[in-house]
Amino acid sequence: MNSSLQAHWDDVLNQRKTFTQINSASMLLAWDQETKMPAGAGAHRAETMAVLSALAHERATSSQYGEALGLLWEEAQSLNSELDFDQQAIVRELWRDYSRQSKLPGKLVEEMTKTTSLSQQAWSEARQKEDPSLFLPWLEKTIALAKEAGAHLREEGQSSYDALLDEYEPGARSADLKVLFQDLVADLVPLVKKIESRPEPQSSVLSASWDVQKQEKWSRFLLDAMGFDFDRGRLDVSEHPFTEGVHTTDVRLTTRYSEKEFFDSLFSTVHEGGHGLYEQGFLDKWSCTPLAEAISLGVHESQSRLWENQVARSEVFWDWAWPELQKFFPENLKGVGFDEFYRVVNKVKPGEIRVDADEVTYNLHIALRFQMEHELFDGGLQVSDVESRWNELSDQYLGLVPQSPMKGFMQDVHWSVGLFGYFPTYTLGNLMSAQLFQVFQSKFPNYQSQFKQGDFSQLKQWLNTEIHQVGKAYSANDLIQKVTGEPLQARYFSEYIKSKYHALYQIKS
Ligand code: CO
Repeated sequence: MNSSLQAHWDDVLNQRKTFTQINSASMLLAWDQETKMPAGAGAHRAETMAVLSALAHERATSSQYGEALGLLWEEAQSLNSELDFDQQAIVRELWRDYSRQSKLPGKLVEEMTKTTSLSQQAWSEARQKEDPSLFLPWLEKTIALAKEAGAHLREEGQSSYDALLDEYEPGARSADLKVLFQDLVADLVPLVKKIESRPEPQSSVLSASWDVQKQEKWSRFLLDAMGFDFDRGRLDVSEHPFTEGVHTTDVRLTTRYSEKEFFDSLFSTVHEGGHGLYEQGFLDKWSCTPLAEAISLGVHESQSRLWENQVARSEVFWDWAWPELQKFFPENLKGVGFDEFYRVVNKVKPGEIRVDADEVTYNLHIALRFQMEHELFDGGLQVSDVESRWNELSDQYLGLVPQSPMKGFMQDVHWSVGLFGYFPTYTLGNLMSAQLFQVFQSKFPNYQSQFKQGDFSQLKQWLNTEIHQVGKAYSANDLIQKVTGEPLQARYFSEYIKSKYHALYQIKS
């Protein structure tokens, strides 16, 4: 790099580092709010976080930063650029963030912040009073604002909805998603019907009571086995499990424990552990740059779901974990056979609630939400018809109609806070995890004998090299193409699900 380019480079990266660190502080406050904060501190905390977020936003959109970054962006695009591949990727991603943030008029951002906060309160109140009419006007407002934001953000060839989707899953297009969801629905709906015609797995473990302190030790034991580094991370308790990657040296996982819900805790821990390994897997040298950040929500979810489902719901995993679990909970597992246990952790049953869904029906919940969003944004669906349309689709995909809107379209917080285009990333993550794991299996044919001994280091290592250390150097589409040799498709997930559940439920294909 010539010296003036070097000076711009240093300037941009230093500025970026400052507001990244302001964001780190916000993340710690957010983590603290969900785990340790005294209940009375809410109002002060909200103000503190608002100040930090405004400060970071001011820095991230300042003209001083924009001008220096603009010069680097020109350089990155020139044919004989002096920037290497990594540097070009950094500049491209910084420019993407900057131009997105600068596209939204300040007034609109302000109105969205205010409206979504009130809308979430209305959602919460409507749920308490079981009266959707208290929420519907707010849903109408959040949709209108999201449409307006999408119109500002969209680029050539994108719909407004695509532009919203792009925030969470850069490069994704609703036209491609439509195909993926159609394929999934076509495969999964008949499979669920077949499963429902088979006897339901039963076991005393489903009604057992599980000591919470032992559950916590068991969680740490599993995370250790996965290779989660407790010198650079923590595990705590929160109402809804989450992962906060403050820095690769400071990754905070949460889970939850209840005596009656052991499996919820177990799979939440492994799920968040998968997210945590991604956050711990970035290279230190790229700290505070986009090369030490996740590509997209979909790719993030691919890491958590791969560990949760492909690993921790597999038979080879339990070959190792079953005797270990018996050491932790001898009383609960007395007289329970391996097969009985394995069938119970893979029990499939369509239900109303997305977050309680098994790995077979989960994506049908997302297909439903994607279809609703698509119709709300581009298909002329009116807010007043949301409940009836939801029930119709739920019947079609899951074979059930929710008992009440609270267990239907009002169950998730997402729409109340204006998160449209977010749900599809859950399914993208599931599809990616199956396609990635397929490649891992073919590259390491001996993996089963290692899993059976509780050795997952080969998998972790492979994910570190292929996914984590890459940061945002590639788009999600390019990464999947590069690692698996093909674009993302529903086929690998469907094949994985079919072969596993045909065997479990003794279904002839
Ligand atoms: Co997740």
